[in-house]
Amino acid sequence: MDLQWYPGHMTKARRMMQENIKLIDLIIELVDARAPLSSRNPDIDQLGQQKSRLILLNKADLADARKNQEWGAYFQEKGFYTVMADARSRAGLKVIHTMIREACKEKLERDRRRGIKNRPIRAMVVGIPNVGKSTFINTFAGKACTKTGDRPGVTKGKQWIRLDKNVELLDTPGILWPKFDDPQVGERLAMIGSVKDEIVDMDGLTLKLILYLKGAYPGILQERYKTKEDGDPADILGDIARERNCLKKGGDLDHTKAARLLMDEFRSGRLGRITLE
Ligand code: G4P
Repeated sequence: MDLQWYPGHMTKARRMMQENIKLIDLIIELVDARAPLSSRNPDIDQLGQQKSRLILLNKADLADARKNQEWGAYFQEKGFYTVMADARSRAGLKVIHTMIREACKEKLERDRRRGIKNRPIRAMVVGIPNVGKSTFINTFAGKACTKTGDRPGVTKGKQWIRLDKNVELLDTPGILWPKFDDPQVGERLAMIGSVKDEIVDMDGLTLKLILYLKGAYPGILQERYKTKEDGDPADILGDIARERNCLKKGGDLDHTKAARLLMDEFRSGRLGRITLE
């Protein structure tokens, strides 16, 4: 799939990130648990050298539970602190707080040795579009937080959200640009909604999703749409159109409508918990 990303955005995002990274101790990197490799930009590893790192496998509620475990172990093995999350829910926040301290234990120890007391950990949330950065900041900051930093008349300061006496979070997330070198990466990103639908061939993408689901999650399409799975993806899409009454004006099957419907049901989790890689 031929997807475009705009170099202008990329340069600006990178510059912002470089400036902000200087100010922080910890990078909280959100990836989409349904496609944890495709939804990372490996450049963050270079940008974030010398910083503590925490990877949040977000949207874990939509991803395959067994795969979540496997991906968690994969990132841990690579040396990242890792935690699974549903950024909309406050339920996992305690674990995340604990992980933040764990990820920054060397800094805390350094401060202690130097006699620095109560200097909060400063953190920044980063990730590609749509992984849940804003949702996470809102949930994590909650109502009780106080904004620090910018005061009237001081234009340049950053806004920090004080989460508790130990942690401050930069209020604007760092946006990473997706990498499309591998066409399959672009496809997975489009499936999880991290690429604007307007630049995606939705019918073609849906056929690829059907092909993947047939192989990786046999039975799932049959159960939901009463279709035989041994057919060609285009035939399966036709069955879905028939089953869901996706018809054009003259009564012909509307494959585009059916494709949209299937993609929506996949993205919202109505098709079940699915991981794409
Ligand atoms: P971004 O800042 O990284 O671009 O992402 P954002 O927070 O805007 O989240 C993108 C969408 O993903 C939002 O849905 C948000 O509710 C949803 N989301 C974020 N984290 C999770 C999660 O852990 N699990 C699930 N299931 N969804 C999550 P939306 O449909 O665009 O908006 P809305 O309908 O929630 O308003």
